[in-house]
Amino acid sequence: MKATVGIALLVCTLPVCAQDLAALTGETRATVLPVIPKVIATMQEAVAAEGVAGAIPVCKDLAPQLIGAKRADTGWDIRRVSLKTRNAERGTPDAWEAAQLADFDRRAASGEKPETIEKSEIVTVNGRPVLRYMKALPVSEVCLGCHGPVDGLDGELRRKLAEHYPNDRATGYAKGQIRGALTVKRPL
Ligand code: HEC
Repeated sequence: MKATVGIALLVCTLPVCAQDLAALTGETRATVLPVIPKVIATMQEAVAAEGVAGAIPVCKDLAPQLIGAKRADTGWDIRRVSLKTRNAERGTPDAWEAAQLADFDRRAASGEKPETIEKSEIVTVNGRPVLRYMKALPVSEVCLGCHGPVDGLDGELRRKLAEHYPNDRATGYAKGQIRGALTVKRPL
C-alpha cells in the first residue's frame, strides 16, 4: 500500500496527474456531448417542419439554452465558438480556442475524420488547474441550409440573416468542413 502511494506521489508532481487527463476527458465528454445530437435532431425536425428560415431559433435559441442548462448543472463554462462567426458576441474564440480551431482545420485537411476531432488539455489559470476541452462541430447536410454557400440559401432565410446578423461570416461552408466547436472550461 505504502509503495503504491510513494509511486503515485513521484508521478504526480503536477497539481493534476497526467493520468487523470484521460479520466477527466472521458467524464467531460459524457457530460457535454449528448447536447450535440439533441440539437441536430431538433434542427432536422424544425427544418423539415418549418423550412430553414423558420428553424433559425433552433441554432439561435435552443442550442444556447441546452448548453446553458449544462452550464447550470455543472458550473463549467460551456460555449460554441467559431473562426467565422454568425454571432460574434457569443461565438468569438479566445486565443487558446482560436489556436485549436486552426489546428482542427489542419487536422481535417490532413485526413482526420472531422467528427472525431477533439482536444483536451490541463492548463493553469491564475495558479489553478483548469481542464480545457474542445469538440469539433462538422458541417453535415442539415447545416448547409443555413451555413452553405450564399447563392444556394433560401431567400427568406437570407433576408432574416441580413436583418439579425449584419456581420454574418458563417456561410460558404461545405459538408465535412469544421463549422466550429463546443468548448468547455472546467475548473479542477
Ligand atoms: C436553420 C438555420 C440553421 C441551421 C440549419 C444551422 N445553423 Fe448554426 N447558426 C444559425 C444561427 C441563426 C446562428 C447564430 C446563433 C446565435 O445568434 O447565437 C448559428 C450559429 C452557429 C454556431 C455558433 C457560432 C457562430 O457562428 O455564431 C455554430 C457552431 C453553428 N451554428 C453550427 C451549426 C452546425 C454544426 C449546424 C448543422 C448541424 C448548424 N449550425 C445548422 C442557424 C443555423
